[in-house]
Amino acid sequence: MAETIAPDEQAILKAAQTLAAGKLVAIPTETVYGLAADATNGDAVAGIFEAKGRPHFNPLICHVSDIAMAERYAVIDPLSRKLMDAFWPGPLTLVLPLRPDTHIHPLVAAGLDTVALRMPRGIAGKIIAALGHPLAAPSANTSGRISGTSAQAVADDLGSKIALILDAGPSEVGLESTIVKVDGDAVLLLRPGGLAAEDIEALIGGSLQRMDQRAAIEAPGMMASHYAPSAGVRLNVHEVRDGEALLAFGPDRAADAHRASARLNLSETGNLREAATNLFDFMKRLDRLGGAVIAVEPIPFTGLGEAINDRLVRAAAPRVPPIEELEQIK
Ligand code: TXA
Ligand code: MG
Repeated sequence: MAETIAPDEQAILKAAQTLAAGKLVAIPTETVYGLAADATNGDAVAGIFEAKGRPHFNPLICHVSDIAMAERYAVIDPLSRKLMDAFWPGPLTLVLPLRPDTHIHPLVAAGLDTVALRMPRGIAGKIIAALGHPLAAPSANTSGRISGTSAQAVADDLGSKIALILDAGPSEVGLESTIVKVDGDAVLLLRPGGLAAEDIEALIGGSLQRMDQRAAIEAPGMMASHYAPSAGVRLNVHEVRDGEALLAFGPDRAADAHRASARLNLSETGNLREAATNLFDFMKRLDRLGGAVIAVEPIPFTGLGEAINDRLVRAAAPRVPPIEELEQIK
């Protein structure tokens, strides 16, 4: 079983040493816990896919300790730089061309000539600085399952497969980072996430370009079904049916009380930031009760609501991979 430790200075050194030895460490970031490996070590990165049971090699996000480290591995255009200056450290990932002399292992980018980079808040940055290399880190959960937002969730899911878990309490944001790619003057939104689109739009003084579903699959790894609990998921529920577990949003309605087998409220005050933080944890808690269906009340699409709805739609999607994915599972 993985050892779980509090993230003090000693733990940071221990994590860096474990990573330098090519092992996996679960690290807290402000978005979700990451399953980290030294991004320059191909064996270590392969270990991530193995531990997660990913069906094929999706490209992974690479975490850096500062912009100078990003510059060593990727080519940064002025608009990407402006986004970094405004939002790093924070829940924003940028897809950038790899430098020809990059030391990031090709498995990290799944052979693409671009890499997704982000600078996380919190102690992850200190671990990266201590290691001196970027960290490849997807969310710390078995492939297709709900992302881990606490050390306990990570230990329950992956504890037998990793060396070390750093416990910094529940994740502050609770949703994965927003992923964008600059294309000329345009900024493409590849994945909605913990930084609201509106915040980026305010900085660039224009609209983000959104990808449609097919194009999103082209941004590799965006499987239609993802974040899946064992229970079925029913969305936009105005009236809960007998026996359903209710994932509520906004003021509680008395009428639901006797019908729902269980009820958790993402945010009684309708606060989307609070809802984002609670989302994965509450889905897991309702799922653990073993009911057949989790019914989810409507959630507005503004701000972080876009990413919350994105994850909920994936959780509700049929549990077969789309044809594009099947083609790649040989
Ligand atoms: O908040 C987060 O982003 C978390 C924490 C741990 O930092 N990390 C995370 O990483 O969600 P990961 O590796 O699961 O995200 C991978 C996604 C892929 O599914 C793909 O959509 C996108 O990042 N991606 C990675 N590299 C890409 C590339 N070169 N081009 C386009 N998309 C890329
Ligand atoms: Mg994930």
